[in-house]
Amino acid sequence: MKNLIAGNWKMNGSMEAALDLAKNIVSGIQENPDLLKNNDFLVCPPYLHLAPVQTELTSAISLGSQDCSPFDKGAYTGDVSAAMLKDMNCDYVILGHSERRQYYRESDMLIKQKATMALEQGLIAIICVGETEQQREQGIEQDVVRTQLIGSIPEGASADTIVIAYEPVWAIGTGKVATVEDIRVMHAFIRNELKDLAKTSNKLRILYGGSVKPSNAAEIFAAENVNGALIGGASLQAHDFLGIADAS
Ligand code: 13P
Repeated sequence: MKNLIAGNWKMNGSMEAALDLAKNIVSGIQENPDLLKNNDFLVCPPYLHLAPVQTELTSAISLGSQDCSPFDKGAYTGDVSAAMLKDMNCDYVILGHSERRQYYRESDMLIKQKATMALEQGLIAIICVGETEQQREQGIEQDVVRTQLIGSIPEGASADTIVIAYEPVWAIGTGKVATVEDIRVMHAFIRNELKDLAKTSNKLRILYGGSVKPSNAAEIFAAENVNGALIGGASLQAHDFLGIADAS
């Protein structure tokens, strides 16, 4: 299976910066088409930048959102529905990112509701899981991730409809990367748990996220059951984003 190289742009950049970044990623891939041999590409800009960024992308790069509403339509001020994202040519939606779990108190149940909406619209839901530093110190990281997986994966999920992103909270934006052994052990654990939670679980992509850079990507991708990366900071520079793809 090809690695999925996914950029989560979070709440960064102006319209101009978003368009420049999209253009630079497109031209970087055109200059080095070998990058497509092992990788699928995805960019997830902020909502307001989705449509303009989409006009810059080629078919080699998928578009995704960073969230969606748990409701299908109606009086939900501020929400954006999965149907609207599909209408905007999104293929993916990131759900349950630790920043949303932490700052908006999103629960597993809410994430599952959002994922159900996403699947109904034919979007692929990237469901994020991961433990805090304190939970890892307590040795309960697998229990935490198991609970998140059981609580947030929607009914009928399969390798065609969901992706799991393992992002240890303490590794996000901190420069601290989990060791390759930590990643290998957790990804094997997730793969095993998925047997009971999703169809075609052996083909389901499990991404790693948390301070992935061109310099550490090769060893992370070499770990078994790592099928790509969800990249924050390094996805805001085309050179670094594509450097990570090059490492795979
Ligand atoms: P960083 O790559 O900046 O650590 O962010 C990871 C992340 O949260 C991607 O969703």
